[in-house]
Amino acid sequence: TEYETILAETRGRVGWVTLNRPKALNALNTTVMREIVDVTTRWDADDRIGAIVVTGSERAFAAGADIKEMEEKSGLEMLMTDHFGGWARFAALRTPVIAAVSGYALGGGCELAMMCDIILAADTAVFGQPEVNLGVIPGMGATQRLVRAVGPYKAAELILSGRNMGADEAERAGLVSRVVPASDLLAEATALSDQIASKSLPSLYAAKAALDAAQETSLAEGLRFERQAFAALFDTVDQKEGMRAFREKRSAEFQNR
Ligand code: HXC
Repeated sequence: TEYETILAETRGRVGWVTLNRPKALNALNTTVMREIVDVTTRWDADDRIGAIVVTGSERAFAAGADIKEMEEKSGLEMLMTDHFGGWARFAALRTPVIAAVSGYALGGGCELAMMCDIILAADTAVFGQPEVNLGVIPGMGATQRLVRAVGPYKAAELILSGRNMGADEAERAGLVSRVVPASDLLAEATALSDQIASKSLPSLYAAKAALDAAQETSLAEGLRFERQAFAALFDTVDQKEGMRAFREKRSAEFQNR
C-alpha cells in the first residue's frame, strides 16, 4: 500500500514507519493518524511482525498535532469527529513499539512517542508540551502519560510552562530509555527492534500487556494479571523450547516468531 504522509516497510520481522511530511516537520494531521493506524494494525495482526519502529527525520520526530488543520475547528467539531480518536487504536497495539526520536518531539509528537513502549532518543532530541503557548492543553495523552513517565511535579512544570527539554534531561527524568549519538539512532533502533522481534510472540504480547497493566491498574490487579499471563505461557511450545534450550546450552528456536 502506498501512503501519502508516511513511509512504511518491513525489514525482517520489524515494521518500520517513517513520518514523511518534511515541510511541516512531520506535524500529525488526520491523514498521518489514519495511515499509521492502518499500517500498524495490519502488522499487529501479522505474526511475521514482532516489533514496530516509529521514527521521523533528523530534524523532527513530529512537531505536534497539525496546528493549521485544527485552528478553525469548533469544540463541537473536535468532539463529534473525535479528532485524535484513532490514536487510541495505535496505543492499543499488542506488538511492542519503539519510538526512535531525533529532533523535535513536541506536543502531539511527544505524546505519540509516549504511546510507544520504548523511547530511544538521539542526543539532538527535544521534548516538550507547548500547547499552553497556543491557548490549549495537550490532547493526545500527555496530562496522563507524562505524569506517569516523569512524575506529577516535573510533568506539571513542563505542561504549565510549555518549555522544551533536551535529550539528557528527558533521560534523567525517565522519559527515554537511552540517549545515543544522532548518527547511531537508526542502527540502535534496528538492533533493539531485531532483538525484540526474535523472541516468542506470545511472550512479547504477554509482557506488553502486563506492562500496560502497570500503568492502568492497581498493584494488586497488575500482579494478578501478571500471574495469569505467566501461567498461560506454560502452554506454549516456545516455553518448552526456551527452557529445553537452556538445559541443552543452546539458543532457543522459537516457533512463534
Ligand atoms: C503545523 C507546523 C507545525 C505544527 C511546524 N510546522 N510545526 N505546521 N503544525 N505543529 C510547520 C511550520 O508552520 C513551517 O511551515 C514548517 O513546519 C517549518 O517550521 P518552522 O517553524 O519554520 O521551523 P523552525 O523555525 O525551525 O521551528 C521549529 C519549531 C516550530 C520550534 C518546532 O515549528 C514550532 O514551534 N512548531 C509548533 C510546535 C507546537 O506548538 N506543537 C504543538 C502543537 S499542538 P511553513 O509552511 O509555515 O514554512 C499539539 C497538541 C494537540 O500537538 C492537542 C491540543 C490541541
